[in-house]
Amino acid sequence: MFLTLENISKSYPPAGARRRVVLSGISLQVEAGESIAVVGPSGSGKTTLLNIIGAMGQPDEGRVLFKGEDTTGFSGPQLAAFRNRQIGFVFQQHHLFPQCTLMENILIPTIPLRDARLKAESSKRGAELLKRVGIWEQRYQKPAELSGGECQRAAVVRALVNQPSLLLADEPTGALDHKNAALLAELLFELNKTNGLTLILATHDLRLAARAERVFLLENGRLIRRPRA
Ligand SMILES: Nc1ncnc2c1ncn2[C@@H]1O[C@H](COP(=O)(O)OP(=O)(O)O)[C@@H](O)[C@H]1O
Ligand SMILES: [Mg+2]
Repeated sequence: MFLTLENISKSYPPAGARRRVVLSGISLQVEAGESIAVVGPSGSGKTTLLNIIGAMGQPDEGRVLFKGEDTTGFSGPQLAAFRNRQIGFVFQQHHLFPQCTLMENILIPTIPLRDARLKAESSKRGAELLKRVGIWEQRYQKPAELSGGECQRAAVVRALVNQPSLLLADEPTGALDHKNAALLAELLFELNKTNGLTLILATHDLRLAARAERVFLLENGRLIRRPRA
């Protein structure tokens, strides 16, 4: 199995009278190349869940198995390598560095790569992706000179430059206007279909969610499978 969540629980704060259960015994199996949407109101735990899947946060209980390996036990260089090589993250805000050009921004994940061949491959892929998402002409411009949609597409390129097998997208269209949101959705699902990229996205946008193969509602700490609209 590509990804297995085993009985994941998380509360804030972890103990005490004010403890609130955010995730309650979540289990899920994801096949390579699948697309999954998690919907739910603000505060329902979508970001918490995605962060745990991407080893950006630890569950209180449970395990995350990525290609059979328990990532909740990773630390130090193993954790850094896992995040850098296996997972791409896209957020609601693009988080590009304002002082860097688009080209510089998308190459940031290649900085820790030690292997010269891998580094060169990633750079080449970055250039190809910039062309594919339609911002190659803008590659020497800075984020402030570009639209929100263009910056978000650059953020997707940056997330994919090291060819991760899993893309986690947390409200990726949340800050975009209708047209750019549609373009970004098109891009994410095209990458999922043509590149075999596994896609897990959290969103409020039910139309975006409906494009995923499986849709789950996160409610009261549990994932409930929804029929596709
Ligand atoms: N680091 C944190 N410390 C305390 N509470 C947190 C923290 N992160 C999230 N929470 C709480 O957990 C709940 C779920 O948050 P979140 O995962 O961001 O939900 P969503 O992404 O669905 O809006 C919220 O009540 C939030 O306030
Ligand atoms: Mg969130």
